[in-house]
Amino acid sequence: MDKKPSKPATQKNTQSGASQMWGGRFAAGPAAIMQQINASIDVDKRLYKEDIQGSLAHAAMLVKQGILTKEDGDAIADGLTRIRKEIDQGRFEFQTALEDIHMNVESRLRELIGDAAGRLHTARSRNDQVATDFRLWVRGAIDDLSAALKDLIHALLDRAEEHAATVMPGYTHLQPAQPVTFGHHLMAYVEMLGRDLGRLTDCRTRLNECPLGAAALAGTPFPIDRHATAQALGFDRPTANSMDSVSSRDFALEYLAALSILGAHLSRFAEEIVIWMSDGFRFISLSDAYTTGSSIMPQKRNPDAAELVRGKVGQVVGALTQLLIIVKGLPLSYGKDLQDDKAPTFAASDAMALSVAAMAGMVRDMKVNADRMRQATDGGFLTATDLADWLVRQLNMPFRNAHHVTGELVRLAESKNCRLQDLSLAEMQKVEPRITDGLFSVLGVDQSVASRKSYGGTAPDTVRRAIAEARERFK
Ligand code: ARG
Repeated sequence: MDKKPSKPATQKNTQSGASQMWGGRFAAGPAAIMQQINASIDVDKRLYKEDIQGSLAHAAMLVKQGILTKEDGDAIADGLTRIRKEIDQGRFEFQTALEDIHMNVESRLRELIGDAAGRLHTARSRNDQVATDFRLWVRGAIDDLSAALKDLIHALLDRAEEHAATVMPGYTHLQPAQPVTFGHHLMAYVEMLGRDLGRLTDCRTRLNECPLGAAALAGTPFPIDRHATAQALGFDRPTANSMDSVSSRDFALEYLAALSILGAHLSRFAEEIVIWMSDGFRFISLSDAYTTGSSIMPQKRNPDAAELVRGKVGQVVGALTQLLIIVKGLPLSYGKDLQDDKAPTFAASDAMALSVAAMAGMVRDMKVNADRMRQATDGGFLTATDLADWLVRQLNMPFRNAHHVTGELVRLAESKNCRLQDLSLAEMQKVEPRITDGLFSVLGVDQSVASRKSYGGTAPDTVRRAIAEARERFK
């Protein structure tokens, strides 16, 4: 870390650092406070690989177009490759006085190869350079996160398969509603995360255009080949408008929006893990690997990882808000406000990478207490809807009447503190004389889930089919 002055300094410095690179018309260097507010190297050094990759492609194109000699091009490429190695190995000295990653690299290049370094910046500006670097970085982050998300999806598919027939209460309003299987519940998250994956893929497709060669904002008189640099950097095409190229960050906004929705999904899931692990539920337990103890209460086992995932979404939604506010009201084209696009994007990216990995870890780690889940289905009259459906189907009763009859039977069972299937036939017939023995066959939770064979339903065989389909989709 660079040393920061403890209080804002106001004195002028003589020219040094970055102003050596652009200070032709500047008589004196920046005030220390100017340097401090202007420098972004602490954050954007993270772009060094992308920055060097972009510069290599740019220099190669300049040589091919006859704008740069082959000798200069080779010297630049060798120098950049050396610099990448220096940074990789932690041997590079980043300087705050050089503002950002672009000028830190270029300044070092000058030390290594001399004046030829000054030709690298022909036909480009830091404005198109940073836009290119940042797109490359976000694209890489999307690829990494997509792979991690797929891993989480596969962890869920494996556990869902294992528990395709494990019954538990399904909830609405967190009140017991109808029996479902644990596998079916987990598969709901597979669907959510699958859409998150789709959003990241869509974002990547729209992002994959190359701003390099837009130069400061208006394009360049040099005979550059933007299609060549776009292709060399794995972009589908160059961006179509030079002003848009240097001033737009909607690719990052879209990425942060996708991360925010993903974060919200993970947060819901994390909350369920906290609930399932709580003493009132005890549906699952997590091992020492994903829990912590308390420094004062020896009996405690806390689901910290899940709680942290539940909270991390705040950082991500905060980042989205931050960047939206930076971009709104910014006149075309580039404004330095845009320099602050990176810190929130990096932070949100890190938060989600951690969260997805932690969730995959917890899904694989959790021990499922199937007995507790089944026990919990004893309460809550979960098969009341099955009873009402039976009345409709067997007695041709209008559903509203069936709902009413069922309500009376539930009240009776409640007063006797028993389950619906524990009422006797005679007791039931007092409420509705046409009820027969056949009714009892729909009151068990296994029968209930097995009967829900409609597409997307919770019947174990239907869940198994959904898992097989999902395995195909997320191969
Ligand atoms: N560090 C700057 C950023 O991240 C690079 C672009 C600077 N451009 C300029 N005209 N000062 O946005």
